[in-house]
Amino acid sequence: MNSSFKLTKAAVEKLAQQYDTPLLVVSSEQVERNYSFLANYLPGVKLHYAVKANPHEAIIRKLAELGSYFDVASDGEMQFLTEMGITSERMVYANPVKTANGLKVAKDTGVYKFTFDSESEISKMAKAIPGGTVLLRVRVDNPNALVDLNKKFGAHPEDVLPLLELARKQGLDVAGLCFHVGSQSSSADAYMEALEIFRDLFDKAKEAGFALRILDIGGGFPIPAINETTDIIAMLEAIRDGLEKYFPDTEIWAEPGRFICGTVANLITRVIGTQKRNGKQWYFLDDGLYGTFSGVIFDHWDFELETFKKAENIPATFAGPSCDSLDIMFQDKMTPPLAIDDLILVPNCGAYTSASATVFNGFSKTPILVWEEIKDKA
Ligand SMILES: Cc1ncc(COP(=O)(O)O)c(C=O)c1O
Repeated sequence: MNSSFKLTKAAVEKLAQQYDTPLLVVSSEQVERNYSFLANYLPGVKLHYAVKANPHEAIIRKLAELGSYFDVASDGEMQFLTEMGITSERMVYANPVKTANGLKVAKDTGVYKFTFDSESEISKMAKAIPGGTVLLRVRVDNPNALVDLNKKFGAHPEDVLPLLELARKQGLDVAGLCFHVGSQSSSADAYMEALEIFRDLFDKAKEAGFALRILDIGGGFPIPAINETTDIIAMLEAIRDGLEKYFPDTEIWAEPGRFICGTVANLITRVIGTQKRNGKQWYFLDDGLYGTFSGVIFDHWDFELETFKKAENIPATFAGPSCDSLDIMFQDKMTPPLAIDDLILVPNCGAYTSASATVFNGFSKTPILVWEEIKDKA
């Protein structure tokens, strides 16, 4: 299993002293380990990193160096990658419902590959980028995913042929189909079911005169090293075998987000207040739900808190620094007793954390440093 990035107690203390808290530290070497691991187990699959999961420049730069492709979902993401020198050939605008400005920026930057799942999107794409290459997103059901993305996106399988036909009529390059099994999927089952269904859809499309050449299997691969009940190697091997069985001659894309960036970041946060309320222990931290812990809400994520203390655990409530009463991250979280100024390390907090943080209540976003650039001083 590829290791995950975790600062030592000594490094946490030194960094907190040097740079203050809260502080995020990102490892670009861990990005490389995660990307290489996935590329190794899914050989031949064009990996499109889902930028939304963590758009930090060091992550994008490392992935660009490694030859990754990118899943972008907005005007801002296309612009940012273009400014970093990443060519439009390496991007797919994988948002089934695109904004007017998103389509304008796609045109300006030369992005010509899209996903869609509805009739209304076809004329939008055909007008903005005539002849653009399109993949139809089809819904798949997966009760085992932590985040169900199929509530919002994906055409019904019976609508596939009519939608492909409409796209072809409007002059688009009808290239393939895509799906997303939902995030933090705990087994290969949903992928395997999807592959079988999509083989059938590809065959039906062929009978109807479409030469589909691309299948995009989306993201959802679980953050390695966290979901200990998931055997990630067995899961990837099963997907690889399924691809060989059902799609030996098709170009395969994937859109991993959390798998690539989940284990690359560590947060150093500090206890700024303690309180006993109705006999229950509360700890207030200098980062919260509106900041790096936004993943608790947007990604249904539970975070590990490393306190470096050895004492009998007690249940405690952890809250963020804002004045909003919603700003509570964890209740009844088991922890050694803590005191003001105690430092807490939060490993594996790279996915859907800083990416969805806000500056609510005037708190700045937590600064991010790159470990490989500072480790000699830490
Ligand atoms: C279209 C699309 N692709 C890829 C991803 C990345 O998913 P994950 O981070 O679970 O790999 C998402 C997540 O929302 C998505 O919507």
